[in-house]
Amino acid sequence: MEIITTVADMKAKVAEWKAEGLTIGLTPTMGALHEGHMSLMERAVAECDRVVTSVFVNPIQFGPNEDYDNYPRDLERDAAIAESKGVSVVFHPSVEEMYPENYNCYVTMETLTDTLCGAKRPGHFRGVCTVVNKLFNIVDPDKAFFGQKDAQQLAIIKRMVSDLNMRVKVFGCPIVREEDGLAKSSRNTYLSAEERTAALCLSRSIFKAQELIEGGERDAATVKRAVIEVIEAEPLARIDYVEVVSLANMQPVETLGEAGLVAIAVYIGKTRLIDNFLYDYTEAE
Ligand code: PAF
Repeated sequence: MEIITTVADMKAKVAEWKAEGLTIGLTPTMGALHEGHMSLMERAVAECDRVVTSVFVNPIQFGPNEDYDNYPRDLERDAAIAESKGVSVVFHPSVEEMYPENYNCYVTMETLTDTLCGAKRPGHFRGVCTVVNKLFNIVDPDKAFFGQKDAQQLAIIKRMVSDLNMRVKVFGCPIVREEDGLAKSSRNTYLSAEERTAALCLSRSIFKAQELIEGGERDAATVKRAVIEVIEAEPLARIDYVEVVSLANMQPVETLGEAGLVAIAVYIGKTRLIDNFLYDYTEAE
């Protein structure tokens, strides 16, 4: 496995693969790889001839008071994981390589970004769309794989690809959880032992929502109340948002439609974690 750090070298490698008629998969990450990322790599390796995992902590998707400086970085460990999963290249550009002096072009969405994390983290999805767009242009993948844990991000990227007529096919992969239910996240490493136990209120509340919805509950306020009750029982938890939204437009619903998302963001101490439950009855009917 190779580690490539420049756009020119990455493009040259892609050109080589394309000349051989090989298909390319991309798993974009910010590093600090965990089993969630590994599941994306496994799927990409199974479906594509060559796989690129990008490891880039993208400064423009972090707000001024967020954790950009402290975000865990360990390229050696990440590269070893990627190699063990059969990834062909880790693309690890510097900030200057991705955003040279006078960089001046950003990708914004008109909809889907004004609720949930988009509302709470102004500019976040502008940063995500911009970097993902750049990665798609650099790697020109046939398929790209993202985690369902970042459900709003996934919906936005799918929409960007469709609106801008990009050729890449985007796939969402299921949330991977610890044995006790906590959704895997690079930010889990910030938690103290006490906070790690407290963080279980996220998955507990999501499982409660799932139980209600699978039991036939269709009133969003009832689902939200049940989720909030579980989280508020945990003294170390502070709710950032709890919302039930339509999958089509990420807008809050009163009555659960065919496809939607129960999405939560919760601070455990200073660490902000997200989780969600996706329901989709469109194919079942
Ligand atoms: O989900 C992430 O890790 C990031 O938002 C992404 C998609 C790699 C863009 O920086």
